Amino acid sequence: MYDLIRPLLFKLEPEVAHAASLKAMQLVGTSSMAQAMVRTMLGVPRGQPVDFCGLRFPNRVGVAAGYDKDGQGWRGLTSLGFGHVEIGTVTPRPQAGNPKPRVFRLVEDRSVINRMGFPSGGADLMERHLGPDRPGGVVLGINIGKNKDTPLEEAAGDYETLVYRFATHADYLAVNVSSPNTPNLRRLQHRDALSGLLKTVVKARDAEVQRLGRQIPVLVKIAPDLTDEQLDGALDAITGNGVNGVIATNTTIARDGLRSRFASEKGGLSGAALTTRSAAMIDDIWKRTEGKLPIIGVGGIMSADDAKARLDAGATLVQVYTGLIYQGPGLAGEIIRATS
Ligand SMILES: Cc1cc2nc3c(=O)[nH]c(=O)nc-3n(C[C@H](O)[C@H](O)[C@H](O)COP(=O)(O)O)c2cc1C
Repeated sequence: MYDLIRPLLFKLEPEVAHAASLKAMQLVGTSSMAQAMVRTMLGVPRGQPVDFCGLRFPNRVGVAAGYDKDGQGWRGLTSLGFGHVEIGTVTPRPQAGNPKPRVFRLVEDRSVINRMGFPSGGADLMERHLGPDRPGGVVLGINIGKNKDTPLEEAAGDYETLVYRFATHADYLAVNVSSPNTPNLRRLQHRDALSGLLKTVVKARDAEVQRLGRQIPVLVKIAPDLTDEQLDGALDAITGNGVNGVIATNTTIARDGLRSRFASEKGGLSGAALTTRSAAMIDDIWKRTEGKLPIIGVGGIMSADDAKARLDAGATLVQVYTGLIYQGPGLAGEIIRATS
């Protein structure tokens, strides 16, 4: 079915196609009958629940951050089979992101380059979309980031604000310090900077845990471009500050062996061209932490085999984004079948 729809979607500008698919997910999410119909049409399997960071996930596959930046479409996404959805990146104040065009399909490479730069409706809009209560039936991750115009020295304040804002709504929080499209953001991955930031985040999280009386795991999302030394520093900061796990990886700034005419566009590369690099990172993290740090694997998972390989390398859960663009909505079901 998706083989028929994909050429039509690919005729549209990437952001227009994305907006249309998100709108469809939003619509599906408004009615439980529509959700049940989509599930049946796609033959979505139930999957095997899995425990991760003290939470029970319905299955091992979720949607990566960036697809549902303002928290509109996650209810519908669960009907594709996803056991968790990571919404965001949300910033405290609304911001427009970079000028368009800022997303490019590298079709020959089954990849995407994006330089969105965190377009976000801001915390108020996301809170309105989420409503007052925590949603049930799906694990909801909220991915948080700083506003572009917040100086790096004040970044911790942005993250702290967002922890207090969204602890009530989130099952877990993801600290994004790895997008290549917000100037200098990735400097926050350096040992001392990350340690300082995480102290603030974890302190706010702990206060919310006290208040709400439930666990709220914090995960840190890292880039695939860290050197060995930088990875060591980041892992020290993560394991030394009460963080529960890592999400590896974000997009890469590397450009190896691409064929598409868009290969030299600036931004973060995702999809098949990221598979090897991202998988190697999981391997590395698992070895360096002796398998003790919980990992969500993301980056170039384009098939059930890619997902299985990531789990074999030490991840407990996986996420997809670019795979959805190229393989379509059946990908979640395929992964659930192969990993349950
Ligand atoms: C268009 C686009 C927007 C993204 N926006 C975000 C974002 O806001 N926050 C984030 O943490 N990651 C973002 N990502 C990165 C993805 O979550 C994921 O880590 C990356 O794309 C690698 O996975 P994939 O190869 O399955 O796409 C974005 C990716 C794409 C393609």
